[in-house]
Parts: sequence; C-alpha cells; structure tokens
Amino acid sequence: MTAPTIGVLGAGVIGSSVAHAAAAAGYAVTLVDSDATALDTARTTIRRHQRLATLLGGTRTRKLDIRSSTNLAALTGVELVVENTTESEDAKRALYPELERVLAADTTIAANTSAVPIGRLAEQLTNPGRVVGVHFMNPVDRIDMVEVVRGKASSDAAMADVDTMLRRMGKQSVVVEDAAGFVINRILMPVVNLAAAIVSDKVATPSQVDDLFKGCLGHKSGPLRTADLIGIDTVVHTLEVLHDHYGTDEFVTHPALRRMVDQGLLGIKSGRGFYSYDGN
Ligand SMILES: NC(=O)c1ccc[n+]([C@@H]2O[C@H](COP(=O)([O-])OP(=O)(O)OC[C@H]3O[C@@H](n4cnc5c(N)ncnc54)[C@H](O)[C@@H]3O)[C@@H](O)[C@H]2O)c1
Repeated sequence: MTAPTIGVLGAGVIGSSVAHAAAAAGYAVTLVDSDATALDTARTTIRRHQRLATLLGGTRTRKLDIRSSTNLAALTGVELVVENTTESEDAKRALYPELERVLAADTTIAANTSAVPIGRLAEQLTNPGRVVGVHFMNPVDRIDMVEVVRGKASSDAAMADVDTMLRRMGKQSVVVEDAAGFVINRILMPVVNLAAAIVSDKVATPSQVDDLFKGCLGHKSGPLRTADLIGIDTVVHTLEVLHDHYGTDEFVTHPALRRMVDQGLLGIKSGRGFYSYDGN
C-alpha cells in the first residue's frame, strides 16, 4: 500500500517537529522551506526527535520518509499541507495565494499559526474553504492534544481531512472558533509576558517562576521553559499579532523579551534563552 502524502511548509522549530511526527506516523513527507540552511538544521533536529522517540519508546522506530526542497512547487500533488512559516500575518497572507497556485483544487491547508486568525489567511484564496487552523504543540510526537480552529469559511471536507490526519497521527483535538490567538496563545502569551516582567523586576528567577507553576498549579512545564521551547522570537511575533488584533495592554511585548531577541537569546533553538542548553 502506498503511504499517504503530506506537505510541511516551513522547517523551523515546529515545522521540523511536525515533519518528524507525520513521518513517524507513516506519512511520506515533503518538507519545504525557502531557506536551505533551515532545511539542514531541520534534518539534524528530526534525527534528534527520532533518537529521543527510540529511547523513550524502547523499540526501533520506523524509517522516516522525508524529502526536502526549497521550491514551493515540490508540494504539488500532496494530499494535505501543514503550513508553519514565520509568524507574520502579512507574510503569511502574501504566501497563501502562491501556495494555492501549486496545489490541487481541493487540497486542504492546515494553518499551524500561533495567533493569526484563520479567516485572514483563507480570504486570500480562491477556495477559502480549504483552510483550517491546526495548532500543534512542540514536540509534536509527544503532545497528544491539538487545538483545531474552524474558520467561518472552513469546509466540511477540509475539516474531515484534518480529522483524518490527526487520527493517523494518534492525536486528540478540541475544535474552537476563529479569533486571534484562539484559546492557548490568547492566554499563554500574556502569561509569558508577565513572567518575563517578573524576572526583569528581579522578583524571582526563571526556575523559581516555573517551579511555582509546576509545584502549586500542577503544570508539567512553567511559562518560561515553555517560552524557550517555542522560541522567544516567535513569542514576540505572536504578541505583536495579538496586539495588532486586540490593541490591549496585556499584549504589549515587555522590553525584556525584545532585548532577548536582540541578543540572540531565542531559547532552545539558539542554545540560550531564560535557561542555557548544551545543544542536546
Ligand atoms: N514554535 C512553536 O512551538 C510553535 C507551535 C505551534 C505553532 N507555531 C507557529 O508555527 C509557525 C512557525 O513557527 P516556528 O517556531 O517554527 O518558527 P521558526 O522561525 O523556527 O521557523 C519558521 C520557518 O519558516 C520559513 N519560512 C518563512 N517564510 C517562508 C516562505 N515564504 N516559504 C517557505 N518557508 C518560509 C523560515 O525560513 C523558517 O525556517 C509560526 O506561525 C508559529 O507561530 C509555533
């Protein structure tokens, strides 16, 4: 039997994790990024995800079928595309019509954005019904819950395609309505912003903040460890999208987060953020 095919557009932190999890679930993956260096880094990241999966699973995992390209046209013919490009509403809105041009008329686009309303992406297309929000969490192969966003125009067929993909990947989902940041990031981003303020004000260290969230509230991870995992640049981009939409103070990026980005302290992806990482 031939493997189902999937396109993964954007090979950064979450795109490489989606590509790994989809391939581990039996998909033949086409991974596309406009930056060849990002594809090189993704190959290393995917190997690391796979090593960890083997270690945690205690068994040999399947050989991953992933090909990569810098050319958007490599996505022609895939059954569904997960879009994970940089969190910028303008850039994504410019990209979607280009993406539509290389896809078959009915191919579903799963927009894995942190905060951009799905309707703002869909309205750029001839067939707006093909876009559904599918907000994966990092690492994709280990977090079973996915936030699915039904846009006003999302078609039943596109929702069914997403459902099939998530079932193949062994995921559960909660389907919510379309609004900037949806549920998770409309809540999480102000929390990260405030946690950064608390550290900047020297009220507590990052590990004290996170230990309180874990110990007192039963969270698996604190907000600052989570921010490092997401990427501080992506946190800042997401706050900007949220502020553009709501205009309220809780989404004004704290200067400490901007300083971290300026200094290259992007979290796990750069080796240092609120915490230091040894590259593993
Ligand atoms: N980091 C997370 O934990 C996480 C989780 C869920 C969703 N997201 C969302 O997923 C998207 C990507 O986030 P990320 O953290 O992986 O960002 P990232 O900065 O690590 O990677 C983004 C990648 O997109 C590529 N890209 C940008 N424009 C492109 C284009 N036009 N064509 C092809 N490739 C292009 C870049 O070269 C880069 O490699 C964002 O919308 C983000 O909000 C992130």
